[in-house]
Amino acid sequence: MSKFSWNKLNKPFFVMAPMDGITSSPFRRVVKRCGADVVFSEMIAAEAVYYKSKKTLAMMNFHEEERPYIVQIFGKDTEKMVGAVQYIEKEVKPDGIDINMGCPAKKVVSGGRGSALLLDPEKAVEIVRTVRSATKLPLSVKTRIGWEKFNIQPLVKEFENAGIDALTIHGRTKTQGFAGEPDLDALKEIKKLVKIPVIGNGGINSVEDAQKMLSFTGCDGIMVARGALGNPWIFKSLHFLRHSGSVQNLDYKPNFEEIRNLALLHLQMNIEEFGPKKGIFDMRKHYGWYFKGFPGASELRKKLVLAETKNEIRSIIEKMG
Ligand SMILES: Cc1cc2nc3c(=O)[nH]c(=O)nc-3n(C[C@H](O)[C@H](O)[C@H](O)COP(=O)(O)O)c2cc1C
Repeated sequence: MSKFSWNKLNKPFFVMAPMDGITSSPFRRVVKRCGADVVFSEMIAAEAVYYKSKKTLAMMNFHEEERPYIVQIFGKDTEKMVGAVQYIEKEVKPDGIDINMGCPAKKVVSGGRGSALLLDPEKAVEIVRTVRSATKLPLSVKTRIGWEKFNIQPLVKEFENAGIDALTIHGRTKTQGFAGEPDLDALKEIKKLVKIPVIGNGGINSVEDAQKMLSFTGCDGIMVARGALGNPWIFKSLHFLRHSGSVQNLDYKPNFEEIRNLALLHLQMNIEEFGPKKGIFDMRKHYGWYFKGFPGASELRKKLVLAETKNEIRSIIEKMG
C-alpha cells in the first residue's frame, strides 16, 4: 500500500499536470527526472476502465520511478466510476486518484463530464462522496474557478466535507478555456476557504510566475501544464525557489547538448514503451517544443518529422548544435 499523502509533501510542492495525449509514462519520467514532485496520468475515461478497454488500461501503466503517481479519471456515471476506481486501486496501484471536473472539450462536456459537472453541483458532490467511500487511496479533484464566472466556493467546501485530500484549481473559468491570466484573487479566496492542500494552476511558465502565484494566493503547491512542454527543466528551476525563496534570474537555461540528450532519452523511452512506430510518431510534437528558439529549429523539426527510424533521428539531432 502506498504511503503517499498530499499533506506530507514539503511545501511548496510542484506537480506535473494531467495532459491528454501528452503525459504518458515516458513524458512523466522525463519531468520526474527534472524534479517534478508528483505526476498525473492523462485523463482516463472511467467508463472505459469499467468495460476494461485494453487501450485505456494500457494508458495507466507506469514505472516505479514515477511515484507519487496519480491517475486522473473523468466520468458521470457514479456506479461506473466506483467500478473504475476499485479496479485502479487493486490492479494499477497508483498513489492517488484525481477526478477531472475542469475539462472543457466538447466530447467530454457533451456527455455531462469534466467541467460540465460545474453545472450540476449535486451530481458533482454525489460522485465525490461515492468515490470517496469506494477507495482508500488519497482522493483529489481538479477543477476550475467556475463555468462562466468565479462561483466555485460552495462546491469546493462540499468536496472538502465529502473527504477529498487535495484540490487543484485551474484559475480560469470554463468559458475562458486556456487563455488569459489566471485569477489569483479567486485562488487566494479558495485557499482561505479550505484546510486541505490547494494546488494552483494556470499560466505558470517561469519561476517568477510560480513565485507570484504562491506569494499572492498562499497555495500549497503549483501545477505546471504547458510550461513544461519542451521545458521539463522548469521543475529544476522551481526547486531553486523552494530552497532560496527568491527569484532573481532563477530560470534554468539548458544548453543545446542537454536538450539534445534529453530529447534522445525521451525518444528512447518512447520506443521502449510503445514500440518504434508509435514511439517515433508520438515524439513528433515534442521536437517543436524542445528545439524552439534555436537557430535552424524549424528546419530541424521538418527533418525530424520526416525521419522514420531512431538512427535517422539520432543522426539528424547529433549533427545540430
Ligand atoms: C493539450 C492539453 C491537454 C490537457 N489535458 C488535460 C487532462 O487530461 N486533464 C486535466 O485535468 N487537464 C488537462 N489539461 C489542462 C491542464 O492540466 C491545465 O489545467 C491547463 O493547461 C492550464 O495550465 P497552463 O496554463 O499552465 O497550461 C490539458 C491542457 C492541454 C493544453
